[in-house]
Formats: sequence, C-alpha cells, structure tokens
Amino acid sequence: MRKKMISAILAAALCAGLITGCGTQASTAPASGGDGAAAQSPALGDGVLTVGTNAEFPPFEYIGDSGQPDGFDIALIKAIGEKMGTEVEIENMEFDSLVASIGSKTDCAIAGMTVTEERQKSVDFSDSYYDAVQYVLVKKDSDIDEADDLVGKVIGNQLGTTGDFLVEDIENAENRQYNKPVDAVNDLVNGRLDAVIVDQNPAKVFQEKFADDIKAIDGAQFGFEAEKYAIALPKGDAALADAVNAALKELKDDGTFDKLVSEYIEQ
Ligand code: ARG
Repeated sequence: MRKKMISAILAAALCAGLITGCGTQASTAPASGGDGAAAQSPALGDGVLTVGTNAEFPPFEYIGDSGQPDGFDIALIKAIGEKMGTEVEIENMEFDSLVASIGSKTDCAIAGMTVTEERQKSVDFSDSYYDAVQYVLVKKDSDIDEADDLVGKVIGNQLGTTGDFLVEDIENAENRQYNKPVDAVNDLVNGRLDAVIVDQNPAKVFQEKFADDIKAIDGAQFGFEAEKYAIALPKGDAALADAVNAALKELKDDGTFDKLVSEYIEQ
C-alpha cells in the first residue's frame, strides 16, 4: 500500500517534471531568431522573468504616477525581456532583500545595484550598464567637504547599499540605516543627520527636490571609488546571463539604450 503510494507520487512528479521541461522549450524560445539559449535557463522555466527591484531610487526606479514601478531600470529590463521574448514581472521589495530573493522569489534583480565582490559570492552579474559613484548630501550651510570632515558625524544611508558599507568604514561615524533613502534625506533636511551618502543620480534628484535646504557633493572629493551597476542573476545560470547580455548589447547597438538614458537620466 505504502509502496504503491510512493511510486504513484514518484510517477506524478516525473510527469510534472517532463511536462514542465517541454513547456520550457516551447514557451521561452526567443521571439526573433535567437539560438534558443534562453530556453535552457532554469530561471525562465515558467516563461516569465520575475525581476526584483526597490522602487525608492529615482531616476532608476520609483513608483510612477500609475502606482507601478517606473524608471530607467524598469524600462531597461522590460526592453530586455522583449528582446528575449519573455514576459517581465516586477516585484518591488526592500533593497536589502533583493540578493537573497534571487532563485526563490525572483529570477533576477535590477536596482541600480553595484557589482561588489561580496555580492558575487551569492549572485552573478550581467555586463554592467551604468557608471556611478556615491555622493554626499549635506545642509547648504554645512562645511563638510572632504573625507576628514565625516569623522564622528551622524550619517544616513539606505540599508544594505554600498553607501551603508562606506559609512561603516568612517571613523567614529554614527551609521543611521534607512529602508528608504528619501527618509534619510528628510532627516537631513530636519537636522537629525549631518550627511547622507547615496548614489550620484538619486542624490541629484533629492538635491533638486530640496534645493533650498541641501547640496550634493561628488564623492570623488571624499575619495569614494567608482562603481558599476549591473543586473544581478542567479549564480551559474549561464543561459540567462548570455540571453540578458545579448539583449543588452542589441539595445545598445540599436540606440534604444541611449534613448532610455536621455528619457530618464540625462534630461
Ligand atoms: N548602488 C548602490 C548599491 O548597490 C545602491 C543601490 C540602491 N538601489 C535601490 N533601488 N534602492 O548598493
């Protein structure tokens, strides 16, 4: 009896596996004359690319007028999905959860995410698509303008970001981590923080929003290193990485990428 049940379950599982396997081949074949590489990706087994983001990072991702995530990264990953012939579904979540969600809740993440060695222990990255550096936001009348001035200061940032990791290394600094960068900026404006460290383009957006109160200083002046954004992918899914990189290259070659840059970033 028990034996029978087990073999029935095994048979069912095997069937399901076979069916899913077939579905994979059929549903994810690239729309336009690709080599079918995407079809071999475990992440694309269901024909949908589920993409994690954290829509608190304008101009790369934010909640648009429609109440849905919008921004450069969102437009880019949708264009990538189109080239790959896959549906794209965006999952908005906290930045700090993005990497751990890949392979369970999501297939990949696009979130102005900097390639770091630490992250590369758990995920692979696509070719990089944007250069960045951390910026320092301070009150307009602040005299903070070089690395030594940050020593012992109260500094806000978004939890789990490269800005957060930088603050960890500043001598005697009090590290205030926020889930949303805009909350850190509000606390800076209200005098609860001495500085906020956040990526260049979001820093410029926030500075414009609070132009009467704060200024944005290039982190190069503080010795902060250049960073590169890329799409985080499941470790070892070479088929997905190849398909994403091929789509990214096509978008660069056909001018779509530059169009998105001028539409969302360099207006
Ligand atoms: N580039 C920084 C990092 O990778 C910050 C990214 C924050 N992105 C976001 N969507 N909140 O850590």
